[in-house]
Amino acid sequence: MTIYYHEGSKTFHLTNDQISYIFTVLQNDQLGQVYFGAKIHDRESFDHLVEIKDYPMAAYNFESNRSFSLEHLKQEYPTYGAGDMRYGAFTIQQNNGSRIANFVYESHRVYAGKPKLPGLPATYVEDEQEAETLEVTLIDQLTDTVLILRYTLFANLPVITRNVRFEQHGKEKIYLDRALSLNLDLPDRDYEMVQLTGAWSRERHLGIRSLEYGVQSIYSLRGSSSANFNPFLALKRPEATEDSGEVIGFSLVYSGNFLGQVEVDTYDVARVSLGINPEEFKWPLETGEMFETPEAVMVYSQTGLNGMSHTFHELYQKRLARGHWRDKERPILINNWEATYFDFNEDKILDIAQAAQKSGIELFVLDDGWFGTRNDDSTSLGDWFVNVAKLPDGLSGLGNKIEALGMKFGIWIEPEMVNKKSQLYQKHPDWVLQTPGRAMSQGRNQYVLDFSRPEVVENIFEQLKAAFTDAPISYVKWDMNRSITEAFSAQFVADEQGKVMHQYILGVYSLYEKLIAEYPEILFESCASGGSRFDPGMLYYAPQAWTSDDTDAIERLKIQYGTSLVYPISSMGAHVSAIPNHQLLRLTPIETRANVAFFGAFGYELDLTKLASEEIQKVRQQVAYMKKHRKLLQFGTFYRLKSPFEGNVTAWMVVSSDQKQALVGYYRVLQQVNDSYHRIKLQGLNPDFEYQVSLIDEKIYGDELLHVGLTVSDQSSGENHDHYNGANGDFQSRIYELTVS
Ligand code: DGJ
Repeated sequence: MTIYYHEGSKTFHLTNDQISYIFTVLQNDQLGQVYFGAKIHDRESFDHLVEIKDYPMAAYNFESNRSFSLEHLKQEYPTYGAGDMRYGAFTIQQNNGSRIANFVYESHRVYAGKPKLPGLPATYVEDEQEAETLEVTLIDQLTDTVLILRYTLFANLPVITRNVRFEQHGKEKIYLDRALSLNLDLPDRDYEMVQLTGAWSRERHLGIRSLEYGVQSIYSLRGSSSANFNPFLALKRPEATEDSGEVIGFSLVYSGNFLGQVEVDTYDVARVSLGINPEEFKWPLETGEMFETPEAVMVYSQTGLNGMSHTFHELYQKRLARGHWRDKERPILINNWEATYFDFNEDKILDIAQAAQKSGIELFVLDDGWFGTRNDDSTSLGDWFVNVAKLPDGLSGLGNKIEALGMKFGIWIEPEMVNKKSQLYQKHPDWVLQTPGRAMSQGRNQYVLDFSRPEVVENIFEQLKAAFTDAPISYVKWDMNRSITEAFSAQFVADEQGKVMHQYILGVYSLYEKLIAEYPEILFESCASGGSRFDPGMLYYAPQAWTSDDTDAIERLKIQYGTSLVYPISSMGAHVSAIPNHQLLRLTPIETRANVAFFGAFGYELDLTKLASEEIQKVRQQVAYMKKHRKLLQFGTFYRLKSPFEGNVTAWMVVSSDQKQALVGYYRVLQQVNDSYHRIKLQGLNPDFEYQVSLIDEKIYGDELLHVGLTVSDQSSGENHDHYNGANGDFQSRIYELTVS
């Protein structure tokens, strides 16, 4: 890993064994982008790649030099208005109303390691040798504003992380109207854009589209990163597949409003932008103040989407997620939400917990409804003390009884919200986000607390501390069940209202940070109506997230497949729930429900006391199976093999780092009649190892499984006289175990 600076050509080259990232100081002292991709040899100058030619009708910067046009140059961190006709990465409004800026190179420094971003989640290093950081300082002389572009190159990963800091040194107050984290001008548009799109209960479905001239974007304006779009996009070559070809992935370590955009100009340059959504954002900077953008991560892959995902998984599992639980196998839990909803008391909970304990389940999670006077969703958010009508012995009484069974105990919270029917709202009605003179939109009967205010965060922290200290809490599910509307904070004057959305998220991060510091061994699981805030920012605080409120196994194939593009398997909360499924009324075999959920942070979400004894027996077997394979499932290398978005069959697999163990999940949605033979080519195996393959009970060499494939044809696919035999019918699945002795 080296970060070169070539004095003569004023060129930066960040390179490791896998990638090169090159940019240079242009003739006008601004920065020009040169290259991002597979590693290339270093040289003193890459000036020949800065393509300058005399374009007709272009705006140009130097008198009598028609060829230097920002409109046609690839730039590093551009702004609109002084020659570039595309969307810029930043806009600064000055006292006189001008938005023109001219940031020129001033200096740079390179150092070992990677700095923390104050108040923001970010990837990190444990040892300074793992990465090198470059900071380039630019200055706008007229306003005396300093811009620092920060790049970290990881030694052993095809990754560059970026963030930007604005510092106002000048006397006048300026306003950041746009301050993105990343801009990348790519020299052609021969890509498809990959994104994760959805809505509640169908989060992170995979979407792929060709790049067109103009702007294509993904975004959130909901205050959370959202179920609708994830803060991730990738550009893949049209011929790239899951396993081969060039892909560049872009991910934003942030949980609030974002914008991800690819602008293709009519000269075929593709400009990628990623950062805080400029809509609803305006950040004033007085003399001496600074603004730090969230971190953006760029991943380069020459081995298709799976290759990109492996890099994201490794980085996000080991160098974004933190703390006590980062490397630990996750406890198998049972959650009472779909079992009881709000309708429970201590006896009911203990009945379920006892049944769970007998099945080997390790953690009981008490979901919504344990606090205040909450019996439905109309009251008590904000009152984080126990509902004694339901739990007469308090949270501690229940927690201790569950611990006495030999299980751990966890609870649900939704700390950012308040109901009007609550003690907190009665006392502090001005603590919600609301615009003076305007109606407040409702969402699930609740309102959003103004987390941009430190005193609000402090109050919730103190309440939660009392609850967490009182009871033996090992796990916390942190929910967030509505979007932000009428965003306005009583603490800010008029020209500061554009800070609210970002400051809100900083408040959320600060509460997480305080709780983690106080309770480092609590396992946090983030949640937002299921998967509405499944993003890298959250992963920094909570190493797992509730993937979706949709617990139907067949829907989960799509949701988990899409989520795996960026997020590691250990981060995906996945539960076996009851049938008929509560979201779709679909009936699926309990084996399939588990076979899908095994590839995640596994648990149950049903009333075990209502299961027939044969089903309880199966639950016991599943729990034992998960315990046996949990390390491999949650920390092995994951490969997507067949996409649920493309056909009737989904397949994926995990492989151990020594390649001696693998599990292949095979899922068939509908039974086909008189079907053909099927094989699936596996990935990640050692071609020279001989694998014992379960279910077909054969020893097969890795090269055969990789190149010929695993035969997965179904026995039952024609005249089906012998009725249901456990392996035929719709929604069937199986897991093949591959072992090398
Ligand atoms: C939404 C979550 O996603 C559910 O799992 C559950 O916790 C409910 N909220 C509780 O209100």
